[in-house]
Amino acid sequence: MAETKLIQRALAGETLPTPPIWMMRQAGRYLPEYRATRAQAGDFLSLCYNSDLAAEVTLQPIRRYGFDAAILFADILLVPDALGADLWFVTGEGPRLSTITTDADFEKIKGADDIHDHLAPVYETVRILSRELPNETTLIGFAGAPWTVATYMIAGRGTPDQGPAHALKAENRPLFQAVIDRLTEATIVYLDAQIRAGAEVVKLFDSWAGSLKGEDFTEFALKPAATIISALKAKHPNTPVIAFPREAGDNYIGFAKATGADCVALDNSVSAVWAAEHVQVDSCVQGNLASSHMVTGGSALVEETGAICRAFANGAHIFNLGHGITPDADPANVELMIETVRSGNW
Ligand code: CP3
Repeated sequence: MAETKLIQRALAGETLPTPPIWMMRQAGRYLPEYRATRAQAGDFLSLCYNSDLAAEVTLQPIRRYGFDAAILFADILLVPDALGADLWFVTGEGPRLSTITTDADFEKIKGADDIHDHLAPVYETVRILSRELPNETTLIGFAGAPWTVATYMIAGRGTPDQGPAHALKAENRPLFQAVIDRLTEATIVYLDAQIRAGAEVVKLFDSWAGSLKGEDFTEFALKPAATIISALKAKHPNTPVIAFPREAGDNYIGFAKATGADCVALDNSVSAVWAAEHVQVDSCVQGNLASSHMVTGGSALVEETGAICRAFANGAHIFNLGHGITPDADPANVELMIETVRSGNW
C-alpha cells in the first residue's frame, strides 16, 4: 500500500501543498496538561519510565493541536542510564550523571546489548502509542547521537562548550573513541528495538554537533551517523531517518548524502533561503522557526512562519522549530503557527 501519512510522503521526497508539521519538545512544560501528568508521575525520569504516563503526555499535543507526528516521550540520556551511568535531574539545573575520565570509569559501562531490560518501558510506550495514535499521525522514535550523549557522559552534566569531552578527545583519544563506539552500537540496538515496537520514523539528535570543527565533525558527527543509519537501513530499509546535526552550519551541506539520512533537520542559525539552495536540493528538510516566536507571537511569528514555508515550497519540507519549545512559550502561539502553516496563505 502506498504511504499516505503526510510526514512519510515528505520524507520520501514529495513536495506537498502545505508542509506537515510537528514540534520538538511538543510534549513539555509549556502545556498545563503535561505539568499535571508530570506531577502525577513524581519527577521527569519517573515519567519517562512509566509507559502509560509517557504515552499519555506524547498524546496530549496530538489531541490539543492535531500535529502530523507524535514524538515518543523519553530522553536522550536514558541510554547512558541503561549503560550504567547513574542519571538524575536537578530541578532548575538539568541532568547529572557519573563522569568518564579514566579507563576504569569506562570499564564499568555495560555492553550495548545489555540495555534492553532497562529500556523495556520505553519500548512499551512505543507499543501503546502505535495502538492509540490516530491513523494519520506518524510515530517518531529517537535517540541522541553518540557525540552529544558522550558530552554528557564524560562531563557528568550539560556544559556550555562541551569542554570536558573536547579535552578527553585531545588527551586520551582511544578512550574517547571507545565511548563513541559503545554509544554508536547502543544507539543502533536501541533504535532497532524502537522500530520493532512500532516507531515509523526515527530521529537522531546531535544537539552539540556545532562544536565539532573540521576533521572532528567528520569523525564524530558524520561517521557515527552514517554507521547508525546504514545498520538501521540494512534491517529496516523502509524506515526513514531524520538527522539533526544542530548548528552544523556549512556542514549541513551534503550531510544527508554522506550519512544516508532521508531528511536533515535545521536549526534557526541558518536561513531558510540558504538551506533551500544548499541542503534541500539533496533531501527533505525539517525546520526551522526560532522557538522564541512561541514566546513572543504576533505578526512576527506569522511573517517568519510564512517566509520559511515560501523558502522551502519547491521541495520536500516538514515544518518544525529550530530547537525545542521552551517552558515560557504561550500555547496560543503554537496554534497560530499551525494555522499559518496549514492556511497555505503565505
Ligand atoms: O521532543 C520531544 O518532545 C520528545 C522528548 C524529548 C525530551 N528530550 C524530553 C525532555 C527529546 C527528544 C529530548 C531530547 C534531548 N534531551 C536532547 C536533544 C535535543 C535538544 O533539546 O537539544 C538533550 C540535549 C536532552 C537532555 C536533557 N533533557 C536536558 C539537557 C534536559 C534539561 C533541560 C530542560 O529543558 O529542562 C532534559 C529534560 C527534558 N527532556 C525535559 C523534557 C520535556 C524537561 C523535563 C521536565 O519536565 O522538567
